Amino acid sequence: MAANPSKPLIRLGIGDVTEPLPPVCVEALHAATAEMAQRSTFRGYGPEQGYPFLREAVAQHDYAARGCKIEADEIFISDGAKCDCGNIQEIFAADTRVAIPDPVYPVYLDTNVMAGRTGDNADGRYSGVLYLDSTPANGYVPAVPGVAADLVYLCFPNNPTGAVATKAQLQAWVAYARKNQAILLYDSAYEAYIRDPQIPHSIYEIEGARDVAIEFRSFSKTAGFTGTRCAYTVVPKNLMAWDKAGKQHALHPLWNRRQTTKFNGVAYPIQKAAAAIYTEAGKQQTRALTDFYLGNAKLIREAMGKLGLKCVGGDNAPYIWVNTGRDSWEFFDLLLNQAQVVCTPGAGFGRCGEGHVRISAFNSRENVSNALERIAAALK
Ligand SMILES: Cc1ncc(COP(=O)(O)O)c(C=O)c1O
Repeated sequence: MAANPSKPLIRLGIGDVTEPLPPVCVEALHAATAEMAQRSTFRGYGPEQGYPFLREAVAQHDYAARGCKIEADEIFISDGAKCDCGNIQEIFAADTRVAIPDPVYPVYLDTNVMAGRTGDNADGRYSGVLYLDSTPANGYVPAVPGVAADLVYLCFPNNPTGAVATKAQLQAWVAYARKNQAILLYDSAYEAYIRDPQIPHSIYEIEGARDVAIEFRSFSKTAGFTGTRCAYTVVPKNLMAWDKAGKQHALHPLWNRRQTTKFNGVAYPIQKAAAAIYTEAGKQQTRALTDFYLGNAKLIREAMGKLGLKCVGGDNAPYIWVNTGRDSWEFFDLLLNQAQVVCTPGAGFGRCGEGHVRISAFNSRENVSNALERIAAALK
């Protein structure tokens, strides 16, 4: 940017939203702020697990409506899925065997590295991690491994690839977890982008998942809450972990203990804004928001196709994973220098990300259209 002040960059790299909050959320924020200004309606510390009005709305609209049996008190409201999927490993033993996809949202891997769970690093891979490769050969959805793991991180719709898992693929993971006494850590931060009616939105749509899975969700990409901060984690009460002696331990009280010890809840006005998403107007407004980003994603997919580049994602996810057929940093540099467009080099997400870049659909229509024109001209 410093070298080329006359050529402004268009950023399709980081996955941050660009559109403002839905009006229902803004109205709820204003109303809740007014309550905080009156002695009679002021609130101090709230429940660490979240206010019942939000936990109940989540249980009803995100789970019961899809036929999933999740109780309101199995939902823990938080200030972000990043914190939750980073913190969750704290409640497991130091010698837990973790299985982590490659490429991956780096939080899953790095928090286990910081916890000292991953062993030595050689050639960019940790000896203590079971890597789940997502490649063109498996359609970027890793198959269940032939060996056992204790904790398995899964993310669908996926960041960075935008790939989604079918019901059959998720059934295989639930069966794997049940067979190996493993726990699935299922991140569905992008479920609001699913449009294919055959694709599950929640791991709990799979029979038996309540016994083996924790689910993470976020309002960040559903309703533009990246700067507002609200998310939740579901820990079913019947979910058990086994210790070395073969003794069972319920995870719900452990996570509750962890949260009540280290977390003091999400601000009341923010939880009110999140609850507004579940009103009829809120549902329409958030649908319009995700439809808008998916419109950008469609343009990106079509443009890549015209350039002869294979890609996945973008139809049920806001990310497009482009198979560049060359070094991912080289392709990044090409777009940066020739088109002044920023994408994310796939190598940053893991070894299997090499040869790919991620293009994000989070931007204005005008910026996306301009970026695609520039990319087409640069690659001619
Ligand atoms: C897969 C995935 N999980 C979680 C998050 C973080 O969500 P939050 O903003 O709720 O912390 C992101 C954000 O980019 C993400 O891509």
